[in-house]
Amino acid sequence: MNILMTTSEAVPYAKTGGLADVVSALSLALAKQGHDVRLIIPRYYGINKAVLKLKPLKGPMGIPMGGGEEWCEVYTGNLPGGPSKNPIKVYFLDHERFFGRDGIYGVPSEPDFLDNPRRFTFFSRGVFQLCRKIDWYPDILHAHDWPTALVPVFLKYGERRNEFAKTVSILTIHNLGYQGIYGRDNFYATGLGWDTFYSAGFEDWNMMNMLKAGINSADMVNTVSPNYAEETKTSAYGFRLDGILKSRGTDYRGILNGIDADIWNPKKDTFIPAVYSTKDMSGKAKAKELLQKEFGLPPSPDTPIIGFISRLTNQKGVGELFGPAYGSAYMICRDMNLQFVVLGTGDAWCENEIRSLESKLSNFKGKIGYSDKLSHLIEAGSDFFLMPSRYEPCGLSQMYSLVYGTIPIVRNTGGLTDTVENYNQDTGTGTGFMFDDLTPEAIYNTVGWAIWAYYNRRPQIEAMRLKGMKKDFSWDKSAGEYLKLYEEAGKKVRG
Ligand code: ADP
Ligand code: GLC
Repeated sequence: MNILMTTSEAVPYAKTGGLADVVSALSLALAKQGHDVRLIIPRYYGINKAVLKLKPLKGPMGIPMGGGEEWCEVYTGNLPGGPSKNPIKVYFLDHERFFGRDGIYGVPSEPDFLDNPRRFTFFSRGVFQLCRKIDWYPDILHAHDWPTALVPVFLKYGERRNEFAKTVSILTIHNLGYQGIYGRDNFYATGLGWDTFYSAGFEDWNMMNMLKAGINSADMVNTVSPNYAEETKTSAYGFRLDGILKSRGTDYRGILNGIDADIWNPKKDTFIPAVYSTKDMSGKAKAKELLQKEFGLPPSPDTPIIGFISRLTNQKGVGELFGPAYGSAYMICRDMNLQFVVLGTGDAWCENEIRSLESKLSNFKGKIGYSDKLSHLIEAGSDFFLMPSRYEPCGLSQMYSLVYGTIPIVRNTGGLTDTVENYNQDTGTGTGFMFDDLTPEAIYNTVGWAIWAYYNRRPQIEAMRLKGMKKDFSWDKSAGEYLKLYEEAGKKVRG
């Protein structure tokens, strides 16, 4: 199949969260099975053309915007890690006014750029113009989240009448909390008629909702875990789109993400001091030693370390964990014999609170910033990994933790439920510790339970680590499920 991934993020070019990991890893897995997979992504300012040796495609490209046209350049490169014979091509749309600035969706002083609806309308339109320019028409247009949710809309309301008669669209929802809701005055940029504003379901309390229109228009829709697919059909988790998701019936389903075993693998990780496996865990002890050193904690092989790596946003339960006056982290560190390391960026209040906790507690250390190297070290060197998410479409970090022998402590929600099995202290079964309610008390109690087991049920803890490390989260299985989804969508459209 010819598959075009249309995306606002992909590692190693641009990443704010798991979406970037997933798009690239899924592309690699599909290419491995012999499909012609390509990616298209904006050429953000941070993507250095010279360093990446990107080549320009000949001639500028015009993209219809509203009544007029915007011109851009196209650059090409290859996705690292792909087959050397037929490398995975990546197309970069280069447009100075829309993408020639710092930030992917925003910067700290302007977290959501005012022109985001126009930036991503432009990009989604550009997908079709690119195909024309290179004279390559995909069987599958695969869109991800609200920034490319207009790709299925443009296909259904126009392009399918043209060269894209045989193309089908898939929309993957990685996070329902971000829908691309903007003033309806931005709709003109789509160039679609006002009737489509209503028929495609853009209309949302008189605003324009880009994800909603995408969900209505895509031939098939999925999200990134089976449990989250079910949850999103309820008002508690549906972010007001539960009715629409339900109305898609069996065209909407959950496919669990995999993880990239070339990048996240303790047997070949180049970021950690020594590799390790279930047969020889000494490398994990070395990682713990280095982690304590890097974070300025006293060396202590027998003190359990809790790791936390995250975007610092409401989704991740940071209020219940770090909230001033009510967060549980302070009391956890005050009352329990453990060390706590944090890596993250996000909401300013939370970054400040982490700094303040650090000044109050000798066993709590936080680094504000983004670092791949440190994230690997934390995954490898910690004993436990905490994810008290309010909602979690899939979650990658708990899967990384499991295969690194770091026991996850998670809220029982979304993909966390699908990937972690709760500990049973009578039988010793399970791979992690889980709690149902998102409250500071529940976090405190569950961390307390894990620390209790560390000191009092050590053989069970060691056995749990090994069980997690043997889990298979490779992409092959999930890629197979995406292929089935593509085929079903194809049958629906082409008969
Ligand atoms: P989400 O996509 O909702 O942020 P996931 O668990 O799916 O959650 O993916 C998060 C990814 O981002 C993981 O690869 C995690 O290691 C990474 N990550 C988050 N914050 C940081 C950070 N500050 N430094 C390095 N990696 C980070
Ligand atoms: C989103 C979700 C996360 C998921 C990731 C990749 O950012 O918050 O749970 O793992 O996308 O699909």
